[in-house]
Parts: sequence; structure tokens; C-alpha cells
Amino acid sequence: MRYQWQAASAPASSPNPLLALRRGLFSPPPSGGRGGRWASEIFEELFLSRKHRPDTDVVHLGRRPADFHGAVNPPVYHLSTVLFPTLDALEAAQRPSPDPRRMTYGRRGSPTSFTLSEAVAALEGADGCQITPSGLSAVATTLLALLKAGDHLLMVDSCYAPSRGLCEGVLKRLGIETTYYDPLIGAGIAALIRPNTTVIFMESPGSLTFEVQDVPAIVAAAKAAGHPVTTVIDNTWASPFYFKPLTLGVDISLQAATKYIVGHSDALIGTICGNAETLPRIKQTAGDMGVWTGPDDMYLAQRGLRTIGVRLERHQETGLGLARYLQGRPEVKRVLHPALPDDPGHALWKRDFIGASGLFGAVLHPVPRAALAAFLDHLELFGMGWSWGGYESLCVPQHPEKIRVVTPWTEPGPLLRFHAGLEDIDDLIADLDAGFARMAAAT
Ligand SMILES: Cc1ncc(COP(=O)(O)O)c(C=O)c1O
Repeated sequence: MRYQWQAASAPASSPNPLLALRRGLFSPPPSGGRGGRWASEIFEELFLSRKHRPDTDVVHLGRRPADFHGAVNPPVYHLSTVLFPTLDALEAAQRPSPDPRRMTYGRRGSPTSFTLSEAVAALEGADGCQITPSGLSAVATTLLALLKAGDHLLMVDSCYAPSRGLCEGVLKRLGIETTYYDPLIGAGIAALIRPNTTVIFMESPGSLTFEVQDVPAIVAAAKAAGHPVTTVIDNTWASPFYFKPLTLGVDISLQAATKYIVGHSDALIGTICGNAETLPRIKQTAGDMGVWTGPDDMYLAQRGLRTIGVRLERHQETGLGLARYLQGRPEVKRVLHPALPDDPGHALWKRDFIGASGLFGAVLHPVPRAALAAFLDHLELFGMGWSWGGYESLCVPQHPEKIRVVTPWTEPGPLLRFHAGLEDIDDLIADLDAGFARMAAAT
């Protein structure tokens, strides 16, 4: 028996209690977008048309114990050369094949990579997935696959800073022009589309400042452009477990699986998911550039994926709890978290996402640097460092004012980015309480 998921002969009739519970957390969706339908309804359709629901799927997607002597997890294949027993077999391996698990060479796939890519593609609702060595390489591989000299790229101003570095470095050198746009532009993006605009890149919520983009409005503008414009989104914040951009018409959804898929801060990896139209270009470019990922990191990612459902629930709950705590602190001017009802992006988030991750921001009232250092330097549980999505909590100052070009950041006080880990929230709050006491003493 093969333990891959199969299309169900009939959709399950019982409602999904977990999705119903999540839906019950929020008030009804605004009209507009997809006719006022819940993201969770779309998810439910997507998954009920298959056999299982999301929390079950992530446990089983891509696994085939029967192929590996019953082992629950796929083995880690360390390989470059694949040997062929006959000339016929060698020549057959050079011809196209419909078998997605065919092995020809280490860089072309192994059971370790097939497990991960099949699972992530199913989670994104995509036709396939290209694995890359990091989230940033997923951005770079995608843009290099879609753009050529003379093309124009529309890049959201709240993008992950190294994505901007790619535009200003490699892409500029290759003769590709980038225009940055306001993350809140929505349908207004139509006015920025030029005859040579070929890609619109989104990231929602945005890095550091957490603006939620009107993804369906931007997709509609791209489709109405009169010439092909490919839409791409960085889906790292919510992960494909809580947001499925392809169901909103986005062409390519990529992510730093480094964050919530890996989930343990011990591997870098990226994924690019697309449909039958876009994926071949991505695969060709990745192949031409020799983009590949070590098997140990792919293994860690597929292992992390199995627990993403329970981890994200906890990241979300603790993140919201910390956000509400920070809203009540006199040192905090405002909290940037789209799942908070008074956040400017809340209505769009509620319409399009099924959940929130544990990453959010807080703007403090201005304090001397020494007071900020007193707060940060002695936090016991919150680490200070880059990346996020692991089991541990983080708190790190950020500086959007240094990078934004069309949406200047003018807050005079420090911006802190929090990642809510899996610790007990009472301990985390006690840590922050002590930090604010040190800050007051140093002010
Ligand atoms: C939104 C976003 N995209 C992409 C990346 C890049 O991921 P990686 O560190 O795996 O290259 C990051 C990393 O922080 C990120 O936050």
C-alpha cells in the first residue's frame, strides 16, 4: 500500500470542527474580494475535494512508508551519481518522463526532495514545487526565471530587505528596472503597470511593518494589463498553512521554509510553488543555475512540516496574547499585528487569511538608546537575532527608515519585531515586565 493522499470519491460531508472553530474566532468577512467568502471556506473546499483536512494532510502528505521498509520518515538520500543498469535505461533517463519521482542525477531529485516538494505543493494548492537552498534564493530564482533585460518589475516597498538588494544589485546589472510601490496601493497598481512590466511582486503582511496587501485587487489589475504580467508573492509570514495565494489567482507563491516549515531554527531552505504554466520556467532556470539543496536540510524541512499545524496554533495564540499585553503597556505607542481588530490591515487579513503567525511589531515611545539596551540586553527568554519561525521567542530592533523609498517610516521611537515562540506566555510576559522595569530605571 502507498500512503500518498488520494482524491476522495465523494467529499466528506461533516464540517471541519477545527476550521469552524477558527472561523468562529472572527466576525463575518467584509463583502468584496471573493464575494465576501471566508478564506476558511475556500480552504475547506480545497481540502474537502481531497480526502483529508489540513491538519491531517500535513502529517501524511508526500510520505510513502511502504517504499522504505515501513519507516515513518523517508530516508535521507546522500547522492550525486545515479547508476543505470543498461544502455536502454541510461537513454530512457535522458528522455522526458511523466513520473515525478524518476531519479536521474543528484541535482534532479531524490526521495528526500520528492517528499518535501509534493507535500508543500499540495499545501499551497499548486501543481508543483521547486526547492531552493534558502528563502532568498527562492526569490532570486523566481525573478531570474521570469525577467529579462529591458523588463520592468513592480516590487512592494515593504519587501524583505535582501529582496530589495537583489533588485538593486543583480537585477539592475542585468538591465531590469524596479519600481517600488506602496503596499496599500491595491487596485491603484494598474497606474504603475507599463508595457514592459512583466512581474508584480507582493509580500503580505510586509516585512517589518506588517501592512496587509489587497492581493485579489492586485491580481485583477495584473490580469487586466493587456499583456502577460506574472504575480508572485512571498508567503513566508503565514506559511501556506494559513494563506493560499494561488486560490486568489496569484501565479507563484514562494516562502522561506526556513521559518515555519523547518520550525526549529536549524536549517535554511526555500520553496517556489506554481501552476503548470509558470512552474516549467522556474524548474528550467533552477536547473540551469544548478540550484539544489542538501538532503539533510530537506529532511529537516519535511520533518518540521509534520507539526506545523499545532505549532502555528500556539505561535498565533501566544503572538496575539503578547500583542494585547504590549498594547496595554505605557511604553508602547502602537502594535503592528493584522489579527488585532484595530489594526489597519485587519479587514483584509480576515478576508484572505485563515490564521496569523507569531511575528509582529511594536513601536515604542522614544527612549534613550541606553534605556533600550537595558530592556533588550538582559531579556532572559527573548533572543536577539535574525530569522524567526523557530520554537524560541525573539525580540529585535528594526529600521525600516533606512530602506523604504515610497512609504517613508517616520516613527521617532524604536520599532521592535517580536517572534512569539512556544514558551509559556506567562513566563514571556514576566520577562518583558522585567525588561520594561529596567528600561524605566535607565531612562
Ligand atoms: C519574508 C522573508 N522572506 C524571505 C526571507 C529569506 O529567507 P532565508 O533566510 O531562508 O534566505 C526571510 C528571512 O528572514 C523573510 O523574512
